[in-house]
Order: sequence, then structure tokens, then C-alpha cells
Amino acid sequence: MPFEAKKFIVQAEEDIRERMGKDHAITAVSGGVDSFVAATLAARAVPGQLHIVYVDNGLMRKDETGKVKAVAKALGVDLKVVDARKRFLDALKGVIEPETKRKIIGEAFVRIFEDEAKATDVKFLIQGTIAPDWIESGGMGRDTIKSHHNVGGLPEKMHLKLCEPLRELYKHEVRLVGKELGLPESIHQRQPFPGPGLAVRIVGEITEEKIHIVQEACDIAENEIDAAVAAKKMERPWQYFAALLPSKTVGVRGDERAYQYTVIVRAVRSLDGMTANFSHIPPEVLERISTRITNEIRTVGRVVYDITNKPPGTIEME
Ligand code: XMP
Repeated sequence: MPFEAKKFIVQAEEDIRERMGKDHAITAVSGGVDSFVAATLAARAVPGQLHIVYVDNGLMRKDETGKVKAVAKALGVDLKVVDARKRFLDALKGVIEPETKRKIIGEAFVRIFEDEAKATDVKFLIQGTIAPDWIESGGMGRDTIKSHHNVGGLPEKMHLKLCEPLRELYKHEVRLVGKELGLPESIHQRQPFPGPGLAVRIVGEITEEKIHIVQEACDIAENEIDAAVAAKKMERPWQYFAALLPSKTVGVRGDERAYQYTVIVRAVRSLDGMTANFSHIPPEVLERISTRITNEIRTVGRVVYDITNKPPGTIEME
């Protein structure tokens, strides 16, 4: 049976009301489509019982915090911004192993939500978890591919009860719900962004310098691909970004030897993120991305394009 967004919305709002009763909930928006759709459903289902927060964990894309604030303002959402940059960076200091990173991030989010909840006597945490999140986190007896921050990354003991209205949906269905709810296209068609943010796009240890490099490189890759799509040079990939490898390589800057970072550009076609094929980007677009990254980020000396499908690769690096 084809997915019917209208029917889903009616049922999901009823379920939220039934599960929450008169209790209050906290919900976090990250700027991504899943969290915005979950928060919008909840705001319609239990108005007056919802506290909406945005956690700035220092691992967001360039200008993300400003963009999220602007969308919230345009939608009339009363958004509380929590500046947790130092908390996340301190907790991630020296951590290299991907699953450890994910667990630290999942736990930090929940502890922040609990701190926020204490002040307001909140009982529930509403999350925008979707099907691939729990499937890849080892749901229903499967192998754990990666612990999504909002599922396998959650701490064992938490004081808030979970409410996950999008749990059975895939990304394309969430987009249909977002559209039906009247969210702006810039939200419901937004490319996916992982909950752990740029942490999973920095292979190995996270430092402020590396976060800055990935923010700039992602911004260049996104803008150049957006421009190429607008000029009809290529179809819009399902997801597209840049990531940073832990190894430096040798190059030349002017007449001098350089030993600098390697950025990896990734763009994929997919329906639901469970499988993906790398996008065939025109060579001149790749060349522009590479030239801009090495010119504008002076600590990057090499740019490579990822031509791996999923499987065997995953979309993110970690
Ligand atoms: P992978 O890397 O597993 O990613 O092929 C599949 C899709 O999921 C996103 N992703 C996440 N989303 N929390 C999320 O909300 C996470 O922990 C997480 N890890 C990956 C990824 O960006 C891609 O769209």
C-alpha cells in the first residue's frame, strides 16, 4: 500500500496524545528534516506541553545555528538554544574509535535534555528517530553497523521516557509528512545531516582546527553542487558533503614542500539511505570543488572523490 502522509499525521498525533497524556515533553531540532517533522507533529498534538531546544554541539555545519534560529522564527517556534560546544569538545578530546565517539555524543545529548527537563518537570523526550536509525543500530537482532546517536548511542539509564513518532518511516516518507504539514521546502527537502554532526565526518581525533576545515570544505562542496544542479549540469544527489581524513600527504605550495590534510568529497544517490550509489559528478564540477578547497583552506593539500557504493561503504565515514 502506498504511504499516505495525511493518514499518518492523524494517527501519529493521536498516538502522541495518548502516550503523553498531560505530561510535558522536550524535543530537540537539529536543522534536519526528521527532528523538525517530529517536533511539528508534537507541537500540533500537544500544544502547550512541549519544550523545543536546539543544542549547538560545536559539530554543526557552517552557519547552521543561525539558519535553524531563522527557520524557527519564521515558523513561530519558541526555540531555546543551548550552547554545549565546550561540553561536547571536552568529552570527545582524544577519542578516535567511531563507536566510542557515537556513544559519547548520544549520552551528552541525553544528559543535556535531562538538565533542561529538570527545570520544567518534563517526563518525555520526543525524537525524530526513523527506521534506518534503529535498523543500523542493530535493531531486531541485526548486526550493529553504527550506533545512531539517538538509538544505540543512548545511555542505558535515562530518566526521560521516549516518544518516537517517525520510528517506522523512511526518509522519503518523512519528507512527504513534512510537506503535508506545511513545512518550507528548505526543510522538508533538506539533505540528511547525521545527528552526531561533523564528528562522523572527521575520521579520527576531533580538534577545533579539523572542525573548521570540515565546515569550510562541506560548505564549498554543497554550494558548488547546488550551483551545478541549478545550472542543470547534474541531478541533485541524495546527500553531498566533504569529510576529513586523518592522514596528511605531501604536496607543493608555490615552490615549497607542503605536508597537509586530505579532504574527501562524497555525494550519493539513494532512496532511503540503506543502500547508496556514488553520484556521477561532472569532472568540471569536481575540479571547481577541489580548486576552491585547496585555495580557500590553506591547510588542505589534497582532495579526493569517494567512488564507493553502500554497501560496502557507508554514507558517512564513521
Ligand atoms: P550511513 O553512514 O550509516 O548513513 O550510511 C545513512 C544515513 O543516516 C545518516 N546518519 C545518521 N543520522 N544519527 C542520525 O540521525 C546518526 O547517528 C547517523 N549516522 C548516520 C547519514 O547521514 C545518512 O543519511
